[in-house]
Amino acid sequence: MSEMMIELLDDFGRAAVDGLGQPRKTIPARFFYDRRGSELFEEITRLPEYYPTRTERALLMAHSADIARLTGVGHSVVEFGSGSSAKTPILLDAVRPAAYVPIDISADFLKDSSQQIAAAYPDIRVRPLAGNFTAPIALPNDLDGPLIGFFPGSTIGNFAHPAAVDLLRSFRATLGTDARLVIGIDTRKNPRLLEAAYDDAAGVTAQFNLNMLHRMNRELDGTIDIEDFEHRVQWHNALGRIEMHLESVRDIEFRVAGRRFSMRAGETIHTENSYKYSVEEARLLARSAGWEPVAYWTDCDAMFGLHVWQATARGIEP
Ligand code: AVJ
Repeated sequence: MSEMMIELLDDFGRAAVDGLGQPRKTIPARFFYDRRGSELFEEITRLPEYYPTRTERALLMAHSADIARLTGVGHSVVEFGSGSSAKTPILLDAVRPAAYVPIDISADFLKDSSQQIAAAYPDIRVRPLAGNFTAPIALPNDLDGPLIGFFPGSTIGNFAHPAAVDLLRSFRATLGTDARLVIGIDTRKNPRLLEAAYDDAAGVTAQFNLNMLHRMNRELDGTIDIEDFEHRVQWHNALGRIEMHLESVRDIEFRVAGRRFSMRAGETIHTENSYKYSVEEARLLARSAGWEPVAYWTDCDAMFGLHVWQATARGIEP
């Protein structure tokens, strides 16, 4: 009797096989963040062209007292997509929570960063959760409310509008009806500045994008020649988003997870959308998802937006 081979594809394997099998090839941006990708992203945040991180940090520092007035002190902070938790101390110093729950998809990165926070803040209970925060999450049940959601870095920009509304609704469900959300949202601006931020002179963002191919080679027995690909970036004004692609420079064939794929010269794998919002668009997004905007700050060049929202008591109006 012959044994049947059962193939086990993990989340990344399934997404890669599905995405590469479509007529327009895509891989969801959340798969950038293996350990190497998380490190490259940290490097991006320090690039001169990449304004979001330093601008948001300055906004958080300038307005931390106002934020604490709006959220109250001594409650609990839940951070979605915490990464290195680099901006977290600014919020923790201001709102002095009893507990901090960082949630991130990169488990080993999460472990390091939550140990650092725990060491720096011995009075705060740190409860890391590894996983995909786009699905509803069961929080530890000993958190002191009202809960403060923290969603910095314009991670919301990776979601198309309907998915962004779903995500913000699920945050409201996770955090409860008396929650506040402190959220950073990148602004619409001169496309030249946007394109430079996603195609830096040092080529770090290109490496970050190309790491998706390396990751398929490493984890999914990929046979991709990285030299066959180039990093491509484009602003789409009507859609309000920056797109990142991996463009094949010649006709190629390769294997990933045992499947054969082919690409023509000029064909791309679409790896990321990064949506940008005017303040009006950001407020409309909040109200579509059961949140009421209560505060907004931007820098003098309007490069980045920092918002505080409050869960609406009755959810979505009829
Ligand atoms: C982490 C999704 C906010 O869109 O600016 C940076 C990711 N991609 N450079 C962004 C990213 C390329 C980043 N987010």
